[in-house]
Amino acid sequence: MFDSGVGGLSIAKCIAQQLPHENIIYIADSLHAPYGEKSVKFIIERVNHIAKQLIAKGVKAIVIACNTATVNAIEQLRAQVNIPIIGVEPAIKPAAKQSISKKVAILATQATSENQRFKDLIDLHHNGAQVLIQPCPGLVEFIEQGKQNSDACNALLKQYIDPLIEQGIDTLVLGCTHYPFVQKQISIIAGQQVTIIETAAPVTVQLSKKLVEKEIDACKKQQGQYQFFSSLETKQQEEIFSQLWQEPLTLHALEPY
Ligand code: DGL
Repeated sequence: MFDSGVGGLSIAKCIAQQLPHENIIYIADSLHAPYGEKSVKFIIERVNHIAKQLIAKGVKAIVIACNTATVNAIEQLRAQVNIPIIGVEPAIKPAAKQSISKKVAILATQATSENQRFKDLIDLHHNGAQVLIQPCPGLVEFIEQGKQNSDACNALLKQYIDPLIEQGIDTLVLGCTHYPFVQKQISIIAGQQVTIIETAAPVTVQLSKKLVEKEIDACKKQQGQYQFFSSLETKQQEEIFSQLWQEPLTLHALEPY
């Protein structure tokens, strides 16, 4: 699995809990985060480079644990490789379905917000609900730096969420895998009347389905082993990883471009 940085750990944790026999190799491209503020061409180049490294390590499936990379690069990657590629996309369908006020909002990166595949997804699944898209520049950086509990991060969250609440949303979709790491803060700002929806559980179900379908799911006797790589391999990064993973871990360096 991979993400632009630490965000995908929110998905990895769920996979490790639900599919404890599977080995996971996690790559964070933290040196190049945030992807949300990069060009489509750049995102595609990084996705292909990282996928190549994962395939060289012998993986049987790839989870793109990043909404921005999924909407911008999954199709071209699937056209190049013949192992299952599972993506992460904002959970618009369940959000629109459960909204009573028929007003939902999606917090996403700039690059996801502008993406046509993402807009098509909304057109397909809005189910009569009004969907407000809120790009959140700056938020990923706080989480990458381990500053998600700072006053400055909280102020930025308020700036993005308060206007959505004023407009009467009752459902908020976390359209970036970094955002579950500020879910507590989001939920305090949004209030109890707002349901927050994220995607780790459905992605895990989808991965499991694919592995079983292809008969490549892990033997139930083995305990999954986890390896973590980053393009920004520093002591500080290792500490941030360990904090979000909720266990000490070793961060290895990803081979440079
Ligand atoms: N975690 C990512 C996502 O789900 C990307 C964040 C970023 O690098 O901007 O969109």
